[in-house]
Amino acid sequence: MAASSSRSCLQYLLHLAQDNLDFRLPEIKALLALRAKPFRPCENFKEKSPFWCLDGLCEDDVRSIMARSVCAKSAFELWGHGRTHSELRTSILNYPLKNMSPFMHKDSTYRINVYTFNKTLLFAERIERIDAMEYLPFEGTVSLKSPQHIFCLLEDYGTDPNNIPEHPSYIYFGRWIADGQRELIRSHSVKNRHFIGNTSMDAGLSFIMANHARVKENDLIFDPFVGTGSLLVACSHFGAYVCGTDIDYNTIHGKGRSSRKNQKWRGPDENIRANLRQYGTERMYLDVMVSDAAKPVWRNAALFDAIITDPPYGIRESTRKTGSHKDITKPPDGIYVESHVPVSQAYHLSDIFTDLLNFSAHHLVIGGRLVYWLPVYRPEYCEEMVPLHPCLRLISNCEQTLSSHTSRRLITMEKIKEPEELDSLAHLSDPRFSPYQGHNAFREKYFSGFNKRCGKEDSKSDVSGE
Ligand SMILES: C[S@@+](CC[C@H](N)C(=O)[O-])C[C@H]1O[C@@H](n2cnc3c(N)ncnc32)[C@H](O)[C@@H]1O
Repeated sequence: MAASSSRSCLQYLLHLAQDNLDFRLPEIKALLALRAKPFRPCENFKEKSPFWCLDGLCEDDVRSIMARSVCAKSAFELWGHGRTHSELRTSILNYPLKNMSPFMHKDSTYRINVYTFNKTLLFAERIERIDAMEYLPFEGTVSLKSPQHIFCLLEDYGTDPNNIPEHPSYIYFGRWIADGQRELIRSHSVKNRHFIGNTSMDAGLSFIMANHARVKENDLIFDPFVGTGSLLVACSHFGAYVCGTDIDYNTIHGKGRSSRKNQKWRGPDENIRANLRQYGTERMYLDVMVSDAAKPVWRNAALFDAIITDPPYGIRESTRKTGSHKDITKPPDGIYVESHVPVSQAYHLSDIFTDLLNFSAHHLVIGGRLVYWLPVYRPEYCEEMVPLHPCLRLISNCEQTLSSHTSRRLITMEKIKEPEELDSLAHLSDPRFSPYQGHNAFREKYFSGFNKRCGKEDSKSDVSGE
């Protein structure tokens, strides 16, 4: 990005966290879409950089992104930038005074912070940097404790910790607007959560999923593999009504063995409702129920604004559905056996995703999003593995590496048409749409025995594993 001459349009600088790199762009784009704003990066945008400069926004847009983002740390109104301090100075002096003066008048108080990425400066060096900015026409008083306005000099020393240059590769100066929601990662950590299970979703990722799904106030959100409700917790935090299903009676009713060390059985109030209560969002809780995702119980209608889920893939929990391949002798009609436990059979991974996409095509509103995790055996992964559906547009596909051989991909899709609108069978000429009609042989081969290749001996999730 070359140092700009006079700029009439405001530009904003986002400082992003350097973890979950893949998830950042879809998150920011989704949050901008909630404001009906396009993602317009400035020249020389680099997706992996901790600093993104954006055009075409107003301060309210930026504040609303920061009120939601867990990928962005802070946002600034960009006053100047350059490859050297001298370029930075020219850039700042070209910034319209009318944009700066409301924050510099003599009755105001201010502070300048110095932030360096990939390098630590000594205290004296920081002071030097601030002193060198005496060309800025500040008329107000410095207040370190509670300034009205905070400014920040940000120096970027690249992303290679083994090769830190002496001088920054790029420098920015701006007025701080807002911080992102990184604090949610700590405040909602599963470590301190009332009700947890072996596969409770990490807080940061749960909020990222809710953002990719563009969850907003008063939305209705559904998780068909709800587990301990971590995704409902995140969605309810953003003001959505939440509900879910799970095949496991004990999970839904908060009974059975505890997943906590030093605790054998779950306590009396360990359940999903109590999790929402813990974070003050109980009023957004609709309900959860025991139900098999392979046999949905919902009436045939577009009910949900988003479907957000972490399906089982058999590494830490088995993939089962109700029913049996064998003939079962049914009890005579009208006779209920109270202790009846439904028979279960293996739920093939490929079927889980086929069912999930078909369910979403039928039950999402138009424009509603499906966000889910797809397990990946890295040596064999290719984009054709990602299930498609003619009613759902693929929005993003972000990888979270789990080990050298395994990862999971966060898939976001958006409903673009109703299943009834599909004209005849035209779309079926593309084999990638096969979830719509059934199995894709290629994908089926990939998913069969997936768990064994990922190092799990239990063959329950194989088709033949009943
Ligand atoms: C990966 S866990 C979900 C964890 C959840 N996101 C949380 O934070 O606790 C998958 C869940 O799917 C449930 N499950 C497995 N097979 C199912 C089926 N056929 N229908 C519905 N739920 C199922 C499991 O009981 C498990 O709770």
